[in-house]
Amino acid sequence: MIKEILEIPRILREFIKSPFVFDATALRKIKLAKRILIVGCGTSYHAGLLGAIFFEELSGKPVRVVSASEASHQNLNYDLVVVVSQSGETKDVLEFLRKIKPKKIFTIGISNSKNSLLSRLADFNIYQNVGLEKSIPATKTFISQVAILLQLALMGNKKNASLHESFKKLPNLMEKILERQEKIRAVAEKYKSFDKFFILGAGFNFPVALEGALKFKEAAGILAEGMLAGELKHGPITLVDKSSASLLIMPKDLRYWENLSLLLEIKKNGGPVVAITTEGNKDLDKIIKDVIYIPKTEELLYPFLATLVLQFLAYSSGVLRGYNVDKPRNLSKAVRI
Ligand code: M6R
Repeated sequence: MIKEILEIPRILREFIKSPFVFDATALRKIKLAKRILIVGCGTSYHAGLLGAIFFEELSGKPVRVVSASEASHQNLNYDLVVVVSQSGETKDVLEFLRKIKPKKIFTIGISNSKNSLLSRLADFNIYQNVGLEKSIPATKTFISQVAILLQLALMGNKKNASLHESFKKLPNLMEKILERQEKIRAVAEKYKSFDKFFILGAGFNFPVALEGALKFKEAAGILAEGMLAGELKHGPITLVDKSSASLLIMPKDLRYWENLSLLLEIKKNGGPVVAITTEGNKDLDKIIKDVIYIPKTEELLYPFLATLVLQFLAYSSGVLRGYNVDKPRNLSKAVRI
């Protein structure tokens, strides 16, 4: 898992140098699509949630994301379906593709396996090409899926020159985060005995909260709940006390002040808090002890940086708790049942 996390900046750099090339049919389908559906499971589902945010933000097109375990049971009517699966072998994903085949909807598959069953079923395939991911908790394949979905959403969106420029800088920013491993490990050490964890994110960082929580469950055996930050006060806050930890993803973006007020609320209730925020933000050090800084970037790109922190934090927690992070029990790399 750690090897694969450390590969991420290089993988992203290579992707930026040679992004995926689309054929004319796929390009036309993406540009003309009015109703888009993204389908995946687990981490790939979370990548899909981010993909939907990118599409809606950049092209204004509404996008729905459905877990593959549900998608086969729904009567879905879309003109473009994007299926995300690093293995390309997940049973629910394949079942869904077989089910919609007769509907002749154009399908794009995103997978890290060139000759997967998924690649035989989808109309157009995007090969992630990030090298085999051996560890069961997906890390590098998630970042690559999210980068590909961003590329899809950016297609034909020239007005986003500044986003393109900021995207190119991400690998360097990620390297900066990985230089701070000691700080993140120290947070993991301090919180390693907590079994209750809330991971909270608003807006673009909600899927990151879900993905971070999944990494905590798999790699560290911690029952972490990923949640919309705004939902905490509608019930779960009753569980907040000194025995539950909360991690707030709160870069200096449009949602920052809401997140800060939530942080104060959690503190008032005696809950220990870790915050991930933007470098240069001096507010938090005065309020809490555990702040992890990420470099400044565009709002839409913070999910890449916050995810990397959470992956490393979950990995460190798992190692410190004595878990086999690469092979969590009861799991396999491709869920075929
Ligand atoms: O191969 P897939 O992307 O289709 O796999 C889907 C999920 O089973 C997978 O993402 C799972 O949640 C991972 N172990 C997450 O780390």
